[in-house]
Amino acid sequence: MIQQINATTPIDEARAVLAADFDLKYSKAIETETSPIFEKLKDRIPDIEWPFYAPLIFQINRLKREKNAVILAHNYQTPQIYYGVADVVGDSLQLAVEATRVDADIIVQCGVHFMAETSKLLNPQKTVLIPDSRAGCSLASSITAEDVLAMRAQYPGVPVVTYVNSSAAVKAVTDVCCTSSNALRIVEAVEGDTVMMIPDQYLARNTAKKTKKKIITWAGACEVHETFTAADIAELRAAYPGAKIIAHPECPPEVIDAVDFAGSTSGMIDWVKSEKPAKVVMVTECSMSDNVAAETEGVAFLRGCNICPHMKRINLENILWSLHTGTEEVTIAPELMEPARAAVERMIEMSAPKG
Ligand code: 13P
Ligand code: SF4
Repeated sequence: MIQQINATTPIDEARAVLAADFDLKYSKAIETETSPIFEKLKDRIPDIEWPFYAPLIFQINRLKREKNAVILAHNYQTPQIYYGVADVVGDSLQLAVEATRVDADIIVQCGVHFMAETSKLLNPQKTVLIPDSRAGCSLASSITAEDVLAMRAQYPGVPVVTYVNSSAAVKAVTDVCCTSSNALRIVEAVEGDTVMMIPDQYLARNTAKKTKKKIITWAGACEVHETFTAADIAELRAAYPGAKIIAHPECPPEVIDAVDFAGSTSGMIDWVKSEKPAKVVMVTECSMSDNVAAETEGVAFLRGCNICPHMKRINLENILWSLHTGTEEVTIAPELMEPARAAVERMIEMSAPKG
């Protein structure tokens, strides 16, 4: 008997375990109940797959109500999670802000581990679950608290701005956090002409181009975005004449220089919805275009994306398992709680609209 359902559990095995406690048959009642979701997804998910997703979506939504739980899902989650079961979707900043407003006993974080830790920091009294705690991030694993303390010793008095894509231990030795949507604002707002901006060397270099401040960084990188090159963008332009190309600021600066717009995941979604280009390539994680396409008419989405293996550890099977069994609960060492939370709260305060 398997102990846990996660992304590497074969689907048949996971369904067999779940079927012991849940009715996973595609009935008429489930078809009717989930038809508004299917309407949104019918161009993104093959018809033949819906009878497998719909019962899981139905059971997750029922269990959520029963347990007073909410699901926070990052923009990189698959359409069946994003449209099927999420209560709140967004980029890292939006999810962090929403986490402070959640009125539920349980938060299920559909995203990566640092996002679940951020939710726990901001909701210490609530149960925060992540369906697979191995959903990591190459940026978060690139730096330790000891590395940050060594940098502080090397550059005494220089403020440390840490990307939220980091562990609670690293946040705890940080002055203030930032996300890709508020990085420039936070760097401009901290005191001094020099700032340490860690651990993403590319976000730091892309931010450095927009500020007069001197930025010291760390050699971390997102494994999904660092592989894009200026040559890839030139190839995309040649393959798709007239298409707009947009990218995430975790890409190298030469990529950002070559695209039509760069912004956080939500920044890119807003840009597509307001600009409505006839054709667009979203140079980021692949689920992004599926999710935006489901609610944007008249825009052709062309492929130029990579898959984040960490984000893709979360699936409907392990979400249902997580809600059902209360696993895997996210905990943070008591001594890290206050200092790490303070760094995130400072960021939220500094990025709130003025006035
Ligand atoms: P956003 O804050 O833009 O959603 O980015 C998070 C992330 O992990 C991108 O790779
Ligand atoms: Fe981390 Fe990159 Fe995946 Fe975002 S896309 S979670 S930065 S590895």
